[in-house]
Amino acid sequence: MMNTAACIFDLDGVIVDTARYHFLAWKRLTEQLGINFTEDDNERLKGVSRMTSLDIILEIGNLKLDESRKMEYAALKNSWYIDYISKMTPEEILPGCLELLKELKNANIRTAIGSASKNTPMILDRIGIREFFDAVADGNVVSKAKPNPEVFIKAAEMVGVDRRKCIVFEDAVAGVQAALNAGMICVGIGSPDVLTKAHFVISGLKEMNLTKLLTIEKEFGL
Ligand code: BG6
Ligand code: MG
Repeated sequence: MMNTAACIFDLDGVIVDTARYHFLAWKRLTEQLGINFTEDDNERLKGVSRMTSLDIILEIGNLKLDESRKMEYAALKNSWYIDYISKMTPEEILPGCLELLKELKNANIRTAIGSASKNTPMILDRIGIREFFDAVADGNVVSKAKPNPEVFIKAAEMVGVDRRKCIVFEDAVAGVQAALNAGMICVGIGSPDVLTKAHFVISGLKEMNLTKLLTIEKEFGL
């Protein structure tokens, strides 16, 4: 019997690799604006909301725009991003994800999404994974961007679980910090050199299963 009551998953970079699509869409915008935007710069946008991403890009390009212009550009970027994600298929679900979700369901552990993205519903539909989650907390129901813990606290509330009994899976530095701010245990997805604050780091969900989760909850006193 496990103490973990719920597992909360970030979407972009954990369940699907959409960072590439975000990059291509932002790249198209920066080319239009004459800003030099690299894949390294793109790292800073992970986990961060759409408008904050645009602010970071404008800061890189040393460009100031008024609010209405910013809204216009963010909408333009999003229309290009939607072109990409509307073509996504279930094959794009990252390795190990479905297996873990099934294991969690069998163990009666709740599952939820905790993502900054307002496009979460469309992605979940395209990859056909919606039914695996008991709740979806995303950019449409929260207003404070990670590292603010709002989205994870909301996810815990939606599945009716004490937030101290949740484990979060996150690939972004801002997201790991958000999980810690929520008082949750955080499993980082990516490199331990980058996700230094995560309790435990794996390269992808294919490295996670119930036995490992049990070790993690014991080690970190959940
Ligand atoms: C996060 C991504 O999940 O969602 C960020 O890591 C992105 O890169 C953010 O900016 C917001 O996404 P969207 O789909 O609402 O523009
Ligand atoms: Mg992410």
